[in-house]
Amino acid sequence: MTVILSVEPAASAPALRLRPWQTEDAVALVAAHRDPLLRRWLTTSLVSDTEARRWIDDQSEGWATGVRLSFAVLECSGKSSDAGRPVGHIAVKATDSSKALATVGYWTSAEVRGQGIASRALEVVSRWALGAQRIMPLARLELLHAVDNHASCRVAEKCRYALRSILPAQPPAFPREGHLHVRINGDA
Ligand SMILES: CC(C)(COP(=O)(O)OP(=O)(O)OC[C@H]1O[C@@H](n2cnc3c(N)ncnc32)[C@H](O)[C@@H]1OP(=O)(O)O)[C@@H](O)C(=O)NCCC(=O)NCCS
Repeated sequence: MTVILSVEPAASAPALRLRPWQTEDAVALVAAHRDPLLRRWLTTSLVSDTEARRWIDDQSEGWATGVRLSFAVLECSGKSSDAGRPVGHIAVKATDSSKALATVGYWTSAEVRGQGIASRALEVVSRWALGAQRIMPLARLELLHAVDNHASCRVAEKCRYALRSILPAQPPAFPREGHLHVRINGDA
């Protein structure tokens, strides 16, 4: 089953279409990963077409096993079927199936930031993930970011992920404190 989600156009931003990553997205993926902000905040950096294709294969495997549900975010210039190249990514990754718990992750390409793409895409994915879908039944979604990643914190707030706690730094992987935001079923 292929899950496709849609977001209506906003006053100053086009409609969005979210679908699983596809092999032909590899070039756009590598281009997006050249951005220093992505390199700063993401643990995964894709520099070659081979790495990007392997990463896309991993996303397909995540859908097949139901443990990682990730979406490419595409802007629609006209009809919803007329979507262009991916400009963002939203992932829902299972962390504890017994507690129906998952974490969300996201990025947008440098050239499209500040148009509400991350927050509109995260909102539709959060509603879907906490809704009636049976691939990964969930009661709670968590969102973690470094305290000084202010744009990510703002996206969390806009999507009603409540700030629950400050996480201690865990160098070397996480040299700064973090924010744990949570959205629970029923908030959807
Ligand atoms: C975080 C990220 C996904 C936001 O993408 P986006 O498409 O620009 O998000 P939106 O337009 O929906 O919202 C961004 C909000 O952050 C705000 N913002 C951006 N930079 C900011 C900064 N330095 N300080 C405070 N707020 C900031 C914007 O003003 C906007 O809020 P507003 O709508 O109230 O004006 C994008 O910056 C990104 O890809 N960063 C690198 C990867 C990353 O950090 N991922 C999250 C890891 S936890």
